[in-house]
Amino acid sequence: FQRQSLTGKHVLITAGPTQENIDPVRYITNHSSGKMGFALAEAAVEAGAKVTLITGPVHLPTPDRVNRIDVVSARDMLAACEAAMPCDLLIASAAVADYRPEVIAAHKLKKDPSTGDGLLLQLVRNPDILATLAAREDRPFSVGFAAETENLLGYAARKLKDKNLDLIVANDVANPTIGFNSEENAITIIDRDLQASSFAQTSKGKIARQLVAFIAERLTRA
Ligand code: C5P
Repeated sequence: FQRQSLTGKHVLITAGPTQENIDPVRYITNHSSGKMGFALAEAAVEAGAKVTLITGPVHLPTPDRVNRIDVVSARDMLAACEAAMPCDLLIASAAVADYRPEVIAAHKLKKDPSTGDGLLLQLVRNPDILATLAAREDRPFSVGFAAETENLLGYAARKLKDKNLDLIVANDVANPTIGFNSEENAITIIDRDLQASSFAQTSKGKIARQLVAFIAERLTRA
């Protein structure tokens, strides 16, 4: 692990879930803990980078020397990322909600007897933060994550292409000992030539250091 491999680089990292409000007391979210993104922020600081960590609601302490920005929704996260640009490297580890309620009710929704036992909630697509930043003229070296339960490498390779990424990190969330909310991870990194490199299951801290070292090496080559 090279300590100074990211010296002078601004690294932007997204982490955690996003929270999409339904009304003043309810929201839609997911099980992302933010652990992988926070571990990446710590590893990037150790490698000498200036790190901006933009995170959804999580219960984690801020790593030393990391500039942390807390956001709630996907749209907030995109706005915070755009405000933090330019950066040399973007690592998008956030589990961004794909959809949000079309309207956020101003008051707490009440049980409505006229609709029987059902309630229809109209959802609309959220912006893709990673694809939006990777499409900019000042695009950073862009690294995404693909959490899948099936056809892991196939779906990951498709995302790399669709979102115009430099690298994609695939992880198998069907395995309960890695991925969402777990302490450990195991990853396969795929590049634009569809070359795959795997790191065996270990703590998220070790995976983060291996991944940052791998990315730093590719970044200096790019
Ligand atoms: O398409 P999918 O959600 O599986 O893509 C995952 C990758 O894209 C992750 O790197 C995630 O952080 C990023 N993403 C994003 N904004 C979205 C959806 C996903 O930045 N709205």
